[in-house]
Amino acid sequence: MRLRSAFLFTGLGALAFSVAALAQGDPIKQRQEAMKAIGGSMKVLGEMAKGVKPYDGAAAEAAVGRIHDSIDGFTDLFPEGTEMGGETEASPAIWDKPEEFKADAEALKAASAAAKPEVGKGLDALRASLGSVGGACKDCHQSFRIKKD
Ligand code: HEC
Repeated sequence: MRLRSAFLFTGLGALAFSVAALAQGDPIKQRQEAMKAIGGSMKVLGEMAKGVKPYDGAAAEAAVGRIHDSIDGFTDLFPEGTEMGGETEASPAIWDKPEEFKADAEALKAASAAAKPEVGKGLDALRASLGSVGGACKDCHQSFRIKKD
C-alpha cells in the first residue's frame, strides 16, 4: 500500500512536471520552428515564381496562409533571458526596440494577408505579390537577426 501510493505520487509529480515543461516550452526552439515553417513556405513560392516548380494556385495560397499563421504570435517568443543560448540568431536589438520589432512582424502579417487572395490568380500575380512578402522578411532580418553562417 505504501509502495503503491509512493508510486502514485512519483507518477503525478512527473506528470505535473512534464505538463509544466510542455506549457512553458522552449521559446528559442518555438520561434526557430515558426521561422522554419515560414522559410519552407517561402521556398515553395519562390520555386513557383522562378519556374523551378509548376505553378499551383491552391498550393501557393496555402503557403502564404502558413506564413501569415506562423508570424502570428512570433514576437511573443522572445522573453527576457532568451537573448542567448540555443544557437539563437536573435539580435539584442529585439529587446532594445521591441516596438519596432513588432511593427516588422505586423508588416509581414499585412503583406501576407494582402498576398493571399492574389497568389492564386496566376503566375504573374504570384510574382507581383511576392516582392512585398520577401521585402518584409528582409526588413526584419536586417534589423533583428544576426546570421551565424
Ligand atoms: C519580425 C521579424 C522577422 C520577420 C518579419 C521574418 N523573420 Fe525570419 N527570423 C527572425 C529572427 C529574429 C530569426 C532568428 C530566430 C532565432 O534564431 O532565435 C529569424 C530566423 C529565420 C530563419 C532561420 C530559422 C532557423 O533557426 O532555422 C529563416 C529560414 C527565416 N527567418 C526566414 C524568414 C522568411 C522567409 C521570412 C519572410 C517570409 C521571415 N523570416 C520574416 C525575424 C523575422
